[in-house]
Amino acid sequence: MKNRLSRIIKPSSGHAVMLAVDHGYFMGPTHKLEEPRKTIEPLLPYADAIMCTRGVLRTSVDPKTSVPIVLRVSAGASVIGETLTNEATTTSFRDAIRLNAAAVALSIFVGTQHEHQTLKSLGQLVNLGEDYGIPVLAVTAVGKELEKRDARYLGLACRIAAEIGAHFVKTYFCEDFGKVVKGCPVPLVVAGGPKLETELDAFELAHDAIADGAIGVDMGRNIWQSEYPVAMITSIREIVHNGASVREAQQAFEEAKKTKTPILTKNPVM
Ligand code: 5RP
Repeated sequence: MKNRLSRIIKPSSGHAVMLAVDHGYFMGPTHKLEEPRKTIEPLLPYADAIMCTRGVLRTSVDPKTSVPIVLRVSAGASVIGETLTNEATTTSFRDAIRLNAAAVALSIFVGTQHEHQTLKSLGQLVNLGEDYGIPVLAVTAVGKELEKRDARYLGLACRIAAEIGAHFVKTYFCEDFGKVVKGCPVPLVVAGGPKLETELDAFELAHDAIADGAIGVDMGRNIWQSEYPVAMITSIREIVHNGASVREAQQAFEEAKKTKTPILTKNPVM
């Protein structure tokens, strides 16, 4: 368990830059992720882990990669359906093991009509994770009710996920995020959410989340919907692993934009 977690959360910094590309499981061919392989390949060398479904893993990720896989195993709803919250486990643990997942991920929908079923699924997944030494990432999803993104709601959802046994939790950044961190006894990573207006906004989000105690990001759209996705992920790395300020990250971004293969101050696979 610890060894797998250490492949994702790098012991050298205690932090992680996870690349989220699982959006298609409920959003279909999302903008800039229409052809997953094209989006993923240039970014993979700079990711500490890739979060995806088995469909994208099978079709669009080179099996020779050594980047750890965080396999999304829940699904069951779509953006055009009645609700986003009606999810269940759709990928078996056996398949996750066969696919050499370093961790498995599942969404919980606290406070919705599907709270019970998604929390029960989390418990069952943790039971299997404990059997086989595979960590579970609980995603505190918010469905269509984005107004629930406050410290009280996210703190509740993250704490419940940790109490059920999630080994790490993915949530959203919010005002008073420190309170969410304080109430959650397992590591937290933050999603980026929909593409922000500027790169600077995304750097601020990552910076403030780390400053408040998140151990990293599990970011998607703010990286690969940027005009310069590689420059974006390498600059986010500077914040997450090297303590860069927002200004330093912006400078790194401007530099990286000019370079085909950005130089990193630290090797991403360490
Ligand atoms: C959806 C997810 C996504 O992976 C998550 O939202 C991260 O991507 P983004 O940074 O684009 O929000 O788990 O439930």
